[in-house]
Amino acid sequence: MGEAAPATVVILDFGAQYGQLIARRVREANVYSELLPWDTPWEEIAARAPAAVILSGGPESTLAPDAPGVDRRLWDAGVPVLGICYGIQLIARDLGGTLVPATHREYGPTTFELLERSPLTAGAAERSRVWMSHGDTVEKPPPGFSVIGHTPRCAIAAMGDPRRRIYGVQFHPEVVHTEAGHRILSNFLHGIADIKSTWRMESFVEQSVAEIRRTVGEGRVICALSGGVDSAVAATLVARAIGERLTCIFVDTGLLRLGEAESVVAAFRDVLHLRVVKVDAQERFLARLAGVVDPEEKRIRIGHEFIAIFEEEARKLLDVEWLVQGTLYPDVIESKTPGSKAGHKIKSHHNVGGLPATMNLKLIEPLRLLFKDEVRAVGRVLGLPSEIVERQPFPGPGLAVRVLGEVTSDRLRTLRLADAIVTGEIEGAHLAPHPWQYFAVLTPLQSVGVMGDGRTYANLVAVRAITSEDGMTADWARLPHDLLERISTRIVNEVPGINRIAYDVTSKPPATVEWE
Ligand code: XMP
Repeated sequence: MGEAAPATVVILDFGAQYGQLIARRVREANVYSELLPWDTPWEEIAARAPAAVILSGGPESTLAPDAPGVDRRLWDAGVPVLGICYGIQLIARDLGGTLVPATHREYGPTTFELLERSPLTAGAAERSRVWMSHGDTVEKPPPGFSVIGHTPRCAIAAMGDPRRRIYGVQFHPEVVHTEAGHRILSNFLHGIADIKSTWRMESFVEQSVAEIRRTVGEGRVICALSGGVDSAVAATLVARAIGERLTCIFVDTGLLRLGEAESVVAAFRDVLHLRVVKVDAQERFLARLAGVVDPEEKRIRIGHEFIAIFEEEARKLLDVEWLVQGTLYPDVIESKTPGSKAGHKIKSHHNVGGLPATMNLKLIEPLRLLFKDEVRAVGRVLGLPSEIVERQPFPGPGLAVRVLGEVTSDRLRTLRLADAIVTGEIEGAHLAPHPWQYFAVLTPLQSVGVMGDGRTYANLVAVRAITSEDGMTADWARLPHDLLERISTRIVNEVPGINRIAYDVTSKPPATVEWE
């Protein structure tokens, strides 16, 4: 007998900023979910036999004449429903409650106070902090509903009809700032909808592998491995699905850290048994970078050279139709959000995003619905070595943006030695919390020093270590002084050409993480 299909929760997306965050919270409760557009016809929803439906928030007003709504057959289907923000307002509108239009909008934290006992809030504190982001509010609940709790500015912040198992909350239980959020979602899924916690990251792996097999059929696939966790996990998933029909191209730009190219190739070939074509392109990159000091010019030249090499290699392989990319959900939202980073270019980020347009390859993005830490969890399930799964972010243009001024093989060698000391010492210190990213920067600045009775006139190395959630903002890490001292002493003693060390104490903004 085959295993029963896992219980599915359908999340209907009304254009919420947090749609995938709801899906992620449902995964954290070990329940499988699918995010579908709000106008999905009931037949398609019913085909998934959902064990529960969650209605997301959204930017519109339910009071607008053409406001997005749900297929009304949902209300009579006997399926438990949780409406969040816009979702609670839809419940009120469709089932006979009333709404008040926004006179002011409410954003940010406020205090939620329970008014009655409900299975939705079982175990939650009488008063807790919740996070709001809305305009309209529910004025009168529909028949059969009672008010579960309120906040100072929202009389009906949670309501429910236990008989029909339909509930709504005006606040956002999916964001971490809502203290009882996890409990409310878990109460809804496990208590009210009676769903068992059976879904695991292993299930994600199995589902993705099956989906990749279906999509690719007998086709051939290539990917660009960078050594980073995203491309590694994406490639390993595809290899699980289609084995030898995946070829990974690893371009050794000569801009990697000490021993990195060798260890990446060894991990992929010997541990993960992927088919890896290693291209030694150090000379080509050095030639392209000769005499270039402008940071943008470096980034652009490296990006172009990378694409040129990738195309040359791809052309040598026959019948390739597909390209795998390790795109994550935050990249997807960022690229869709007008006015975000794309609006104001700070740096030309280097990735292989430009490839399919010129090469006519179809894209597979198996991680497009996941967040970074979930990708790491998938990597662990796939058995990736911890040096890849836990690897800190590394810029596409590599050490070229950490060698300030011209990039030469001598200057790269100097930086590699200094950087190995910085990373080795910080990792050896087992700090808690561990900095998010840390590295050395070679500056062209020279200063006077004294070593063994002699005058030196040598370069300055800067040490950068930051704390961050996502690299978008960052603070400098408060490293212990004795650790900084060890780093400084070792670099000056062990790396020829360096006589002074500075520690970077700038946050982002106003600085960026990388120096170029
Ligand atoms: P910045 O310097 O922009 O860096 O504050 C933010 C984060 O992004 C990394 N970074 C890059 N990552 N391609 C990447 O994939 C790039 O071109 C690139 N440049 C910077 C940087 O290391 C930090 O984690």
